[in-house]
Amino acid sequence: MNGFNTIRYDKDGGIAKLTLNRPDVLNAVNLRMRDELWDAFRAFRDDPDARVLVLRGEGSAFSAGADISDFGTAPSLIEARRARHERDLWDLLLHLPKPTIAAVHGYSLGAGCEMALLCDLRVAAEDARLGLPEVGLGYIPSAGGTQTLPRTIPPGVAMHMIQSGEPVDAREAYRLKLVHRVVARDTLEDAAMSWARLLVGSNPRALAFAKGAVVRGLDLPLAEGLALEERLWQRLRTSLS
Ligand code: COA
Repeated sequence: MNGFNTIRYDKDGGIAKLTLNRPDVLNAVNLRMRDELWDAFRAFRDDPDARVLVLRGEGSAFSAGADISDFGTAPSLIEARRARHERDLWDLLLHLPKPTIAAVHGYSLGAGCEMALLCDLRVAAEDARLGLPEVGLGYIPSAGGTQTLPRTIPPGVAMHMIQSGEPVDAREAYRLKLVHRVVARDTLEDAAMSWARLLVGSNPRALAFAKGAVVRGLDLPLAEGLALEERLWQRLRTSLS
């Protein structure tokens, strides 16, 4: 896909690679990047040839979060709420029916950290620093972080990270299971791509159903989650026979 200004979207052999591409400002997420991510995530979702998404950052950081220079520039609070309601970018990422892998390095702060949390798998370079600094700026994490972080690491640790804004380094992130793997900076891309290649070889419907069961099941009491699993299994089985 061409025509993007703040991201790059490339596809090779079923693997879509989405690169945050504002390296001069540490890939800060501005309004244009949000619009372009919206288009790219939907293109990935709707493209039967794109099976796995790898999300990465150009330059020295994955992303230093929301672009601070955009703060306070929305036409009005009502307008901002309406735009968010109509285009729930973070919900779209979380519910993509295909595997998503974040390859994070350098600063992965605020929306940068939250985007990674909305992906299924996270591999970090040794230089990664992940954190949610919003409270220190008078905001709260609003790309899902208050919900995804305590569902990923112990809730008390998540609370501390959110209240203090202090980032954790890659080793600590791994210890907390905030990331699945830590690798040397120069092997980050290879590590993400080797996971992606593994998943490209799996049955896409089974992957979609399994992901749906996990993501939707996390919001449900156990009995309802088990019923959801049973329904999805029956649907998958019917489609296989
Ligand atoms: N929004 C807009 N611009 C940002 C940015 C952000 N979130 N984060 C970094 N930048 C820009 C800087 O303004 C600087 O631009 P300049 O070269 O035109 O001055 C450039 O990116 C490099 O950042 P710099 O601060 O010089 O790098 P550093 O290594 O000294 O510090 C950080 C890196 C991440 C610690 C620091 O940039 C920072 O604190 N950024 C804000 C992080 C944040 O609060 N994010 C959450 C927002 S809710």
